[in-house]
Amino acid sequence: MAKKLFIETLGCAMNVRDSEHMIAELNQKEDYELTTQAREADLIVINTCSVREKPVHKLFSELGVFNKLKKESAKIGVTGCTASHLGEEIIKRAPYVNFVLGARNVSKITDVLHRDKAVETEINYDESEFAFKDFRTSPYKSFINISIGCDKQCTFCIVPHTRGEEISIPSNLIVDEARRSVARGAREIFLLGQNVNNYGRRFSGDHKTMNFTQLLREVSAVEGLERIRFTSPHPLHMDDAFIEEFAANPKICKSMHVPLQSGSTAILQKMKRGYSKEWFLNRIETLRSLAPHTFISTDIIVAFPGECDADFQETMEVVEEVKFDQIFSFKYSPRPHTEAEHFTDVVDSAVASERLTHLQKVQDAILDEKSRHYVGQRHRVYFEELRQDGYIAGRSHNNLAIRVKGGEELLGTFAEVEITQSARLSQIGAIVVA
Ligand code: SAH
Ligand code: F3S
Repeated sequence: MAKKLFIETLGCAMNVRDSEHMIAELNQKEDYELTTQAREADLIVINTCSVREKPVHKLFSELGVFNKLKKESAKIGVTGCTASHLGEEIIKRAPYVNFVLGARNVSKITDVLHRDKAVETEINYDESEFAFKDFRTSPYKSFINISIGCDKQCTFCIVPHTRGEEISIPSNLIVDEARRSVARGAREIFLLGQNVNNYGRRFSGDHKTMNFTQLLREVSAVEGLERIRFTSPHPLHMDDAFIEEFAANPKICKSMHVPLQSGSTAILQKMKRGYSKEWFLNRIETLRSLAPHTFISTDIIVAFPGECDADFQETMEVVEEVKFDQIFSFKYSPRPHTEAEHFTDVVDSAVASERLTHLQKVQDAILDEKSRHYVGQRHRVYFEELRQDGYIAGRSHNNLAIRVKGGEELLGTFAEVEITQSARLSQIGAIVVA
């Protein structure tokens, strides 16, 4: 009888893909099948995120809960970015944990399973050409890794320490994976990397070099593939050729994540982001002039060390000028192994909270205004998620989350939808019958 695997995935899309890789390996090499009930599992895996401090604290309380409710013979594994940076300390603090497996070591999952107290956290371990077994949470949408790690050294960010140096995955493997996804029913793929538009910087073997713009062209030649999304590009590498390809290629969804972090050039320099406020605004202007209806999202960190009122004001200026379609906003959180951890000009936490609240309030008003114009608009929606409440959800080409009443038969299909009700980040619509 198959053994049961419970896996909890925290953090970003790359973790979602890592979990799929682990599930596939465990399923096909060790006969595990998924369960949603931790108490009946033979193996419990927490795939962690360490980009901010909060989830790391939560990990240990969660581990305690799992340890209490699990079957006596069940094993517990900690994987992902917190596994990379805490390593064996996890087993010291929670001795019932059976193994610790760092990000970009996920191909070793079937090995550490059989070595009690194994700790595998080599941050430059090279899995760029590993042939993972296949598993998709949904056949209708495929995450495809195009690179692993990150070569930037943003002073706030722990990722280069947990996911190591950047290696691009050879383009023929990416194109093959896109073809296999389409054969299984996906019409849309999602290309993933910490810094996608730096693609081609380094391969582990001797491979044809190409940049992200060329990769997009190769992938879009896959027959039957209708939509391509990707995340995250870096504003520094948004050259004109990239934006021109983005705008002109009809398969590329008109949705771009452009992580600002701060609107103050002085703070951007302290963050070592490599661009200025002016460069950022210029890239948005170019993007909007070539692809006017692009959904633009961003990440903003408030209260980075040294951020004074005037710096924050510059961030707010960018927010009000660009009018992003979505903002992921965070209070700065000091992380180990980063340069900024040692910066002493820390911003008072009450001020940090005030800035975050202010930013979110202004953004809510911007979205309320935008969403007033959505009612009556028609969009071609790709349906990818069946909800419990009788709705089926999908996205428009320009990334609007739209749901309609409907069932399973719509999964993996496209339909023309008219928006009938609008809220900030989620629209309700009805299928337009031709
Ligand atoms: N390369 C990815 C970044 C991954 S981290 C990208 O460009 O999207 C995702 C986001 O978390 C970052 O963009 C940043 O806004 C936020 N973040 C990273 N480190 C942080 C920290 N120490 N404190 C607060 N937010 C942070
Ligand atoms: Fe982090 Fe900067 Fe790379 S935010 S993931 S170091 S681009």
